[in-house]
Amino acid sequence: MSAAAGKIPHHIAIVMDGNGRWATKRFLPRVAGHKKGVDSLRACVRHCGDIGVKVLTVFAFSSENWNRPAEEVSGLMELLVMALAREVPQLQSEGVRIHFIGERAGLSEKVRAGLAQAEANTAHNTRLTFNICFNYGGRWDIAQAAAKLAARGEPITEQSLNGAMALAHVPDPDLLIRTGGEMRISNFVMWQAAYSELYFSDKLWPEFDAAAIDAAIADFGKRERRFGRTSAQVTSPAESSARRKKAA
Ligand code: FPP
Repeated sequence: MSAAAGKIPHHIAIVMDGNGRWATKRFLPRVAGHKKGVDSLRACVRHCGDIGVKVLTVFAFSSENWNRPAEEVSGLMELLVMALAREVPQLQSEGVRIHFIGERAGLSEKVRAGLAQAEANTAHNTRLTFNICFNYGGRWDIAQAAAKLAARGEPITEQSLNGAMALAHVPDPDLLIRTGGEMRISNFVMWQAAYSELYFSDKLWPEFDAAAIDAAIADFGKRERRFGRTSAQVTSPAESSARRKKAA
Protein backbone atom coordinates (compact mmCIF):
# COMPACT_ATOMS: atom_id res chain seq x y z
CA MET A 1 0.00 0.00 0.00
CA SER A 2 1.26 3.47 -0.74
CA ALA A 3 1.53 5.71 2.31
CA ALA A 4 -0.13 8.40 0.26
CA ALA A 5 -3.40 6.50 0.70
CA GLY A 6 -3.25 6.81 4.50
CA LYS A 7 -2.68 9.54 7.06
CA ILE A 8 0.38 11.59 6.18
CA PRO A 9 2.30 13.15 9.08
CA HIS A 10 2.78 16.89 8.67
CA HIS A 11 6.28 16.75 10.20
CA ILE A 12 8.68 13.79 10.19
CA ALA A 13 11.95 13.88 12.15
CA ILE A 14 14.67 11.28 11.50
CA VAL A 15 17.77 10.01 13.30
CA MET A 16 19.67 8.62 10.30
CA ASP A 17 21.66 5.94 12.11
CA GLY A 18 23.68 3.05 10.73
CA ASN A 19 25.91 4.61 8.04
CA GLY A 20 29.08 3.44 9.80
CA ARG A 21 27.85 -0.15 10.14
CA TRP A 22 26.69 -0.19 6.52
CA ALA A 23 30.23 0.73 5.43
CA THR A 24 32.04 -1.55 7.89
CA LYS A 25 30.01 -4.55 6.73
CA ARG A 26 31.38 -3.87 3.23
CA PHE A 27 34.97 -3.30 4.41
CA LEU A 28 34.68 0.36 3.42
CA PRO A 29 35.71 3.45 5.41
CA ARG A 30 32.90 4.91 7.55
CA VAL A 31 32.76 8.02 5.37
CA ALA A 32 31.64 5.80 2.47
CA GLY A 33 28.58 4.97 4.59
CA HIS A 34 27.86 8.66 5.08
CA LYS A 35 28.16 9.21 1.32
CA LYS A 36 25.63 6.44 0.74
CA GLY A 37 23.55 8.10 3.47
CA VAL A 38 23.38 11.25 1.36
CA ASP A 39 21.83 9.17 -1.46
CA SER A 40 19.20 7.87 0.96
CA LEU A 41 18.56 11.38 2.22
CA ARG A 42 18.08 12.74 -1.31
CA ALA A 43 15.51 10.01 -2.04
CA CYS A 44 13.84 10.62 1.32
CA VAL A 45 13.46 14.37 0.73
CA ARG A 46 12.00 13.72 -2.70
CA HIS A 47 9.57 11.08 -1.46
CA CYS A 48 8.41 13.20 1.49
CA GLY A 49 7.73 16.11 -0.86
CA ASP A 50 5.84 13.85 -3.27
CA ILE A 51 3.52 12.33 -0.67
CA GLY A 52 2.65 15.62 1.02
CA VAL A 53 4.85 15.71 4.13
CA LYS A 54 5.33 19.43 4.83
CA VAL A 55 8.33 19.36 7.21
CA LEU A 56 11.30 16.98 7.34
CA THR A 57 13.92 17.37 10.08
CA VAL A 58 17.07 15.23 10.05
CA PHE A 59 19.94 14.76 12.48
CA ALA A 60 23.08 15.10 10.33
CA PHE A 61 25.74 15.98 12.94
CA SER A 62 25.28 16.07 16.68
CA SER A 63 27.08 18.26 19.22
CA GLU A 64 28.64 14.98 20.43
CA ASN A 65 29.85 13.86 16.98
CA TRP A 66 32.98 16.01 17.43
CA ASN A 67 34.24 13.11 19.57
CA ARG A 68 34.49 10.84 16.51
CA PRO A 69 37.86 10.23 14.80
CA ALA A 70 39.16 13.46 13.21
CA GLU A 71 39.07 11.86 9.77
CA GLU A 72 35.36 11.08 10.07
CA VAL A 73 34.54 14.57 11.41
CA SER A 74 36.36 16.29 8.55
CA GLY A 75 34.79 13.81 6.11
CA LEU A 76 31.30 14.76 7.31
CA MET A 77 32.09 18.48 7.05
CA GLU A 78 33.38 18.05 3.50
CA LEU A 79 30.43 15.89 2.57
CA LEU A 80 28.03 18.55 3.78
CA VAL A 81 29.68 21.30 1.74
CA MET A 82 29.87 19.08 -1.37
CA ALA A 83 26.33 17.75 -1.00
CA LEU A 84 24.96 21.29 -0.65
CA ALA A 85 26.78 22.52 -3.76
CA ARG A 86 25.54 19.52 -5.73
CA GLU A 87 21.99 19.12 -4.43
CA VAL A 88 20.68 22.63 -3.79
CA PRO A 89 19.81 23.46 -7.42
CA GLN A 90 17.64 20.33 -7.63
CA LEU A 91 16.08 20.93 -4.18
CA GLN A 92 15.42 24.47 -5.28
CA SER A 93 13.48 23.24 -8.31
CA GLU A 94 11.51 20.83 -6.12
CA GLY A 95 10.27 23.65 -3.86
CA VAL A 96 12.34 22.61 -0.84
CA ARG A 97 13.30 25.24 1.72
CA ILE A 98 16.45 24.44 3.71
CA HIS A 99 17.03 25.54 7.29
CA PHE A 100 20.12 24.73 9.34
CA ILE A 101 19.49 24.10 12.97
CA GLY A 102 22.46 24.11 15.30
CA GLU A 103 25.40 26.01 16.75
CA ARG A 104 27.16 27.71 13.85
CA ALA A 105 29.90 29.30 15.93
CA GLY A 106 31.84 26.02 16.14
CA LEU A 107 31.85 25.47 12.37
CA SER A 108 34.49 26.59 9.87
CA GLU A 109 34.00 29.67 7.73
CA LYS A 110 33.62 27.46 4.64
CA VAL A 111 30.87 25.33 6.19
CA ARG A 112 29.04 28.39 7.54
CA ALA A 113 29.17 30.04 4.13
CA GLY A 114 27.77 26.87 2.49
CA LEU A 115 24.91 26.76 4.98
CA ALA A 116 24.06 30.43 4.57
CA GLN A 117 24.10 30.13 0.78
CA ALA A 118 21.81 27.06 0.76
CA GLU A 119 19.35 28.84 3.06
CA ALA A 120 19.39 32.03 0.98
CA ASN A 121 18.96 30.16 -2.33
CA THR A 122 15.91 28.25 -1.10
CA ALA A 123 14.36 30.94 1.12
CA HIS A 124 11.28 31.43 -1.06
CA ASN A 125 10.30 27.78 -1.37
CA THR A 126 7.19 26.51 0.36
CA ARG A 127 6.49 22.91 -0.75
CA LEU A 128 8.65 21.17 1.88
CA THR A 129 10.58 22.66 4.80
CA PHE A 130 13.81 20.68 5.24
CA ASN A 131 15.58 21.21 8.57
CA ILE A 132 19.12 19.89 8.68
CA CYS A 133 20.31 19.63 12.29
CA PHE A 134 24.04 20.11 12.18
CA ASN A 135 26.22 20.69 15.25
CA TYR A 136 22.93 20.32 17.05
CA GLY A 137 21.74 18.83 20.31
CA GLY A 138 18.27 18.95 21.86
CA ARG A 139 19.72 20.18 25.15
CA TRP A 140 21.70 22.85 23.31
CA ASP A 141 18.44 24.13 21.80
CA ILE A 142 16.66 24.29 25.17
CA ALA A 143 19.66 26.02 26.78
CA GLN A 144 20.10 28.56 23.96
CA ALA A 145 16.38 29.36 24.07
CA ALA A 146 16.53 29.96 27.85
CA ALA A 147 19.69 32.08 27.47
CA LYS A 148 18.01 34.18 24.76
CA LEU A 149 15.00 34.87 26.98
CA ALA A 150 17.21 35.64 30.00
CA ALA A 151 19.29 38.09 27.95
CA ARG A 152 16.09 39.88 26.91
CA GLY A 153 14.85 39.86 30.52
CA GLU A 154 11.78 37.89 29.45
CA PRO A 155 10.00 35.41 31.73
CA ILE A 156 10.67 31.75 31.08
CA THR A 157 7.41 29.92 30.38
CA GLU A 158 6.59 26.90 28.23
CA GLN A 159 5.25 29.23 25.59
CA SER A 160 8.16 31.68 25.58
CA LEU A 161 10.72 28.83 25.53
CA ASN A 162 8.85 27.19 22.69
CA GLY A 163 9.03 30.41 20.68
CA ALA A 164 12.76 30.86 21.30
CA MET A 165 13.76 27.37 20.11
CA ALA A 166 15.80 26.97 16.95
CA LEU A 167 12.91 24.86 15.60
CA ALA A 168 10.23 27.44 16.44
CA HIS A 169 9.40 27.96 12.74
CA VAL A 170 7.73 24.53 12.47
CA PRO A 171 5.13 22.60 14.48
CA ASP A 172 6.38 19.67 16.58
CA PRO A 173 7.24 16.41 14.78
CA ASP A 174 4.28 14.03 14.43
CA LEU A 175 6.49 11.06 13.67
CA LEU A 176 10.06 10.50 14.90
CA ILE A 177 11.92 7.75 13.05
CA ARG A 178 15.23 6.21 14.07
CA THR A 179 16.96 3.74 11.80
CA GLY A 180 19.84 1.42 12.69
CA GLY A 181 18.19 -0.68 15.38
CA GLU A 182 18.92 1.49 18.44
CA MET A 183 15.97 2.61 20.52
CA ARG A 184 16.93 5.96 21.94
CA ILE A 185 16.47 9.67 21.22
CA SER A 186 20.19 10.58 21.51
CA ASN A 187 19.59 14.24 22.32
CA PHE A 188 17.50 14.91 19.19
CA VAL A 189 14.40 17.20 19.27
CA MET A 190 14.14 16.64 23.06
CA TRP A 191 11.66 19.45 23.62
CA GLN A 192 9.64 19.02 20.45
CA ALA A 193 9.22 15.22 20.65
CA ALA A 194 6.97 15.39 23.74
CA TYR A 195 4.04 13.93 21.79
CA SER A 196 5.75 12.54 18.69
CA GLU A 197 4.97 8.97 17.71
CA LEU A 198 8.22 6.97 17.82
CA TYR A 199 9.17 4.47 15.12
CA PHE A 200 12.33 2.36 15.26
CA SER A 201 13.64 0.44 12.27
CA ASP A 202 16.39 -2.18 12.16
CA LYS A 203 17.29 -1.04 8.64
CA LEU A 204 20.54 0.91 8.38
CA TRP A 205 20.06 4.44 7.06
CA PRO A 206 21.63 3.75 3.61
CA GLU A 207 19.00 1.00 3.16
CA PHE A 208 16.06 3.11 4.30
CA ASP A 209 14.21 3.70 1.03
CA ALA A 210 10.81 5.10 -0.03
CA ALA A 211 9.09 1.80 0.80
CA ALA A 212 10.56 1.92 4.31
CA ILE A 213 9.27 5.48 4.75
CA ASP A 214 5.84 4.31 3.59
CA ALA A 215 5.95 1.45 6.14
CA ALA A 216 6.76 3.92 8.93
CA ILE A 217 3.91 6.18 7.83
CA ALA A 218 1.49 3.26 7.60
CA ASP A 219 2.43 2.32 11.18
CA PHE A 220 1.93 5.95 12.24
CA GLY A 221 -1.53 5.84 10.64
CA LYS A 222 -2.57 3.09 13.04
CA ARG A 223 -1.59 4.99 16.20
CA GLU A 224 -4.13 6.77 18.35
CA ARG A 225 -2.71 10.15 19.30
CA ARG A 226 -4.24 11.23 22.60
CA PHE A 227 -2.12 14.24 23.69
CA GLY A 228 -3.01 13.49 27.34
CA ARG A 229 -6.71 12.88 26.70
CA THR A 230 -8.58 9.58 27.09
CA SER A 231 -9.22 7.23 24.23
CA ALA A 232 -12.98 7.97 24.43
CA GLN A 233 -12.34 11.70 24.11
CA VAL A 234 -10.21 11.14 21.04
CA THR A 235 -12.56 8.74 19.28
CA SER A 236 -15.71 10.70 20.08
CA PRO A 237 -14.72 14.29 20.89
CA ALA A 238 -18.27 15.69 20.56
CA GLU A 239 -19.70 13.20 23.03
CA SER A 240 -16.98 13.71 25.61
CA SER A 241 -17.24 17.49 25.44
CA ALA A 242 -21.04 17.21 25.96
CA ARG A 243 -20.37 14.99 28.98
CA ARG A 244 -17.87 17.50 30.32
CA LYS A 245 -20.38 20.36 29.97
CA LYS A 246 -23.03 18.31 31.77
CA ALA A 247 -20.70 17.54 34.64
CA ALA A 248 -19.68 21.21 35.05
C1 FPP B 1 24.81 8.08 12.10
O1 FPP B 1 25.34 6.87 11.63
C2 FPP B 1 24.90 9.09 11.08
C3 FPP B 1 25.60 10.26 11.20
C4 FPP B 1 26.37 10.65 12.38
C5 FPP B 1 25.64 11.20 10.10
C6 FPP B 1 24.38 11.28 9.30
C7 FPP B 1 24.74 11.88 8.03
C8 FPP B 1 24.21 11.53 6.83
C9 FPP B 1 23.13 10.58 6.59
C10 FPP B 1 24.72 12.12 5.62
C11 FPP B 1 24.11 13.44 5.42
C12 FPP B 1 25.09 14.31 5.97
C13 FPP B 1 25.34 15.48 5.56
C14 FPP B 1 26.65 15.95 5.94
C15 FPP B 1 24.38 16.28 4.74
P1 FPP B 1 26.56 6.27 12.38
O2 FPP B 1 27.81 6.78 11.75
O3 FPP B 1 26.45 6.55 13.85
O4 FPP B 1 26.38 4.75 12.08
P2 FPP B 1 26.78 3.55 13.03
O5 FPP B 1 25.85 3.60 14.21
O6 FPP B 1 26.52 2.37 12.17
O7 FPP B 1 28.22 3.70 13.40
